[in-house]
Amino acid sequence: MAERDTNPDARLVIVSNRGPVRFSRNDSGEREHSRGAGGLVTALNALSRQRRETVWIASAQSDEDARVAKETSETGEPHEVEGLRILLAEHETDAYDLMYNHLANPLLWLVQHGLYDLPYSPELGDETRRAWEEGYLPVNENFAEAVARLLKNSPEGGEPIILVHDYQLYMVPHFLRERFGRDAFVSLFVHIPWPEPEGWRILPGYVREGVLKSLLEADVVAFHTKGYARSFIRTVRETLGVEVDEEEGVVAYEGREVWVRPYPISIDPNEFEELARSEAVLEREETVKDLPGKLLLRVDRTDLSKNIVRGFRAYDRMLQRHPEMKGEVTFLARLQPSRGDIPEYAKYAAVIEKSVQEVNQKHATESWEPIILSMEDDFMLSVAAYKNYDVLLVNAVRDGMNLIAKEAVIANEKNGVLILSENAGAHEELGEHALTVNPFDIDEQAETLYEALTMPEDERTRRAEALRESIRFNTIEEWAEIQLKDIAAYREQYG
Ligand code: G6P
Repeated sequence: MAERDTNPDARLVIVSNRGPVRFSRNDSGEREHSRGAGGLVTALNALSRQRRETVWIASAQSDEDARVAKETSETGEPHEVEGLRILLAEHETDAYDLMYNHLANPLLWLVQHGLYDLPYSPELGDETRRAWEEGYLPVNENFAEAVARLLKNSPEGGEPIILVHDYQLYMVPHFLRERFGRDAFVSLFVHIPWPEPEGWRILPGYVREGVLKSLLEADVVAFHTKGYARSFIRTVRETLGVEVDEEEGVVAYEGREVWVRPYPISIDPNEFEELARSEAVLEREETVKDLPGKLLLRVDRTDLSKNIVRGFRAYDRMLQRHPEMKGEVTFLARLQPSRGDIPEYAKYAAVIEKSVQEVNQKHATESWEPIILSMEDDFMLSVAAYKNYDVLLVNAVRDGMNLIAKEAVIANEKNGVLILSENAGAHEELGEHALTVNPFDIDEQAETLYEALTMPEDERTRRAEALRESIRFNTIEEWAEIQLKDIAAYREQYG
């Protein structure tokens, strides 16, 4: 990798809200850490492994994180753990709450996933402006400040490469340019969907323009699919009136060229194959294997975008139409609680529980429970379930990529069938070999569930093999490498 880079010594800084590890104290008062959850963290690990000197800056989230943040700011040296060099940025509690619980989630997340019930919500006003001015902007500036402090402490190594991630940090490029001018390469990777321009117009003008202008202050703006990249180009053309080349993925802004690129994120297949063989997973497999009938699985955060309730309704309808399936299938829903301080999410979590009860009351027999709702935070149990599903349901309303689809397909040992929403980013790569569903159509999902559960073995095998091949074709290493190659090309072209 290094040979292809024009400047392999350039300092690489990754900036994301959630970090790769979370620190805590055990009962004897010693510092401990656990790996951060989620696909983004795994992916960014792959990026940081490409370079020895990468530093990763993330928000301090736990009390112990805050202590680590204080220590590192005193020494100016990143904290080293598991081969990673980490700096934690400590934010004002109120500002962070406004950024996370009022501006990024719900507003940006719900707009970008198209989740608002527009006749009624959102209701924007002074509170929105306050969340922007007193939350989102200061937290974003604090991140830029942390980058500046880090680079001031280690000035050697040439022009830095700063890779900023996701919708919580859209204003970071702007604040970085205030500090570095053009003497830094800056990219921003958007890991969630990008709506068409009219969807973006739900946001107040100051958010809309502020975000778009800041993104265009980056050198590269990246997405998971070609579709999102195209929507972004159309949004900046219509909102800011800038010149664009949609075919080439280039936006002209203030005398510079900004590259807009799709880099579909992926996983490390070897990691999941190894996990599948690990003792921790083998131990947990028995509980999964004991479930009666075929295994229908979903693994998700309890997020509004995941379409969990319609999935249960579709299952209910399938059981009504095909009563012979009763007892022949168990639906295991592994759900991880998420963003519970946001009212929309708390309400959704309650609706999920209620709909599980309804389906179970309606169809359960003495020896069979139709849906098992499993909410404990146990990643190894999810991998045990990945290995054993007959059908995996991914019916998201919209999803940036959905890495569960990729992880589960690789770990699965039963040639299971993937049911995939046409609105998940993963559909661009995997749709051909999955069973595609419209996430809003419950009858179609019910029939697709039946089709998947009764699919002949030879077709299952053919599809599962093609899915595995497609994932192995674009792994996380390629994802990281292609981006670093493009950065080198960009710097060569524009100096
Ligand atoms: C998902 C999305 C990421 C996002 C993350 C935030 O994993 O795919 O794009 O950054 O959620 O989750 P959090 O739990 O930190 O709100």
